[in-house]
Amino acid sequence: MANPELAQRIKRALETVEIPGGGSLSGYAGLSDIIVTPSAVAFAIGVAPGMEAAFGPTRAAAERAAAAVAEGRKILVSLTSDKAGAKPATGEAKAQGRPGPGPKEPVPGIRHIIAVGSGKGGVGKSTVAVNLALALSAEGLKVGILDADLYGPSVPKLLGLEGKPAMREDGIFTPHSAFGLQAISIGSMLTPNQAVVWRGPMATAGLRQLLRESEWGDLDVLVIDMPPGTGDIQISLVQQVPLYGAVIVSTPQDLALIDAKKAVDMLLRTDVPVLGLIENMSYFVAPDTGTRYDIFGHGGARTASETYDLPFLGEVPLVMSIRETSDAGRPVVATDPEGPEAKAFRDIARTILDAHPALRRPSL
Ligand SMILES: Nc1ncnc2c1ncn2[C@@H]1O[C@H](COP(=O)(O)OP(=O)(O)O)[C@@H](O)[C@H]1O
Ligand SMILES: [Mg+2]
Repeated sequence: MANPELAQRIKRALETVEIPGGGSLSGYAGLSDIIVTPSAVAFAIGVAPGMEAAFGPTRAAAERAAAAVAEGRKILVSLTSDKAGAKPATGEAKAQGRPGPGPKEPVPGIRHIIAVGSGKGGVGKSTVAVNLALALSAEGLKVGILDADLYGPSVPKLLGLEGKPAMREDGIFTPHSAFGLQAISIGSMLTPNQAVVWRGPMATAGLRQLLRESEWGDLDVLVIDMPPGTGDIQISLVQQVPLYGAVIVSTPQDLALIDAKKAVDMLLRTDVPVLGLIENMSYFVAPDTGTRYDIFGHGGARTASETYDLPFLGEVPLVMSIRETSDAGRPVVATDPEGPEAKAFRDIARTILDAHPALRRPSL
């Protein structure tokens, strides 16, 4: 449930916060909507490129002012610059002696980040993201999953996560732990139907907080379940994150493949390496007889990846048990790792690791 009354009170509290050059933050045109969820308050302050450092004290004061009236909610204030890819200066970057802040600043504790994207929803992106994370974990990697799909966060259901992630006293999230994965979902920050009010800057602010203000521990790979599509939100999300690369999930139908191609183009435009294409719901295996049917014209993604000169990572069959285990929060790679359904995901994980040995634990 939105809480317009609290949002109003926070906006009033921001009257006391000064912006560089004089004036109050609450009257500043660059202030975004104030989003109030049961556990968090989030807003963004848009600043001109180069002004991020000057706005640092404003951001800090805004956090304090909002915290004073937010009834214990976590406060997420971000500075957003209009320039594509620009990122506010953070104390963290300075403390670690990095040169300037940049969009590709690494996340402490995470060695590599892989995004799972798709041109459109419903192609099984989340199912693939979760099972791929589990398959990488089965190869001996320490793996986390970040559900960034604000349009339809489904990682909590897929992994059977309950409630919100715990928060340390200093406001850092402790991810859920499920089947050996560290997991956190943007869904815990949103009430139902709230995704629609999240604009680009809000979405990127939320993602940045979940990514950078969570205690991931020591991960070899973080898998991000991205929102489907190729719009502004998707572009700014990939620009926020220092990605090792992205995999694209598609079904074999022509239309899905056209959308997948758009996703590939978007990634290439944003300089994100495309690790390859996965064909999901590639063919149907009848639960009773085990007979295989190519109901969607299987093989489209393999052909498409040849056309676009991208690696083809593998096929995942359409199998009832994949759907059932997903719905039950017991993903197939975790619950039956040696079974035939898990094999598709495990083969894909091995294909990725063979092509990118840098993703493995250094000691392995
Ligand atoms: N290989 C598969 N076999 C059977 N059902 C699948 C498979 N992949 C996905 N599904 C089902 O399809 C639906 C959409 O999958 P989901 O992963 O939520 O897609 P997306 O994240 O792309 O919207 C879910 O009900 C899921 O269980
Ligand atoms: Mg999904």
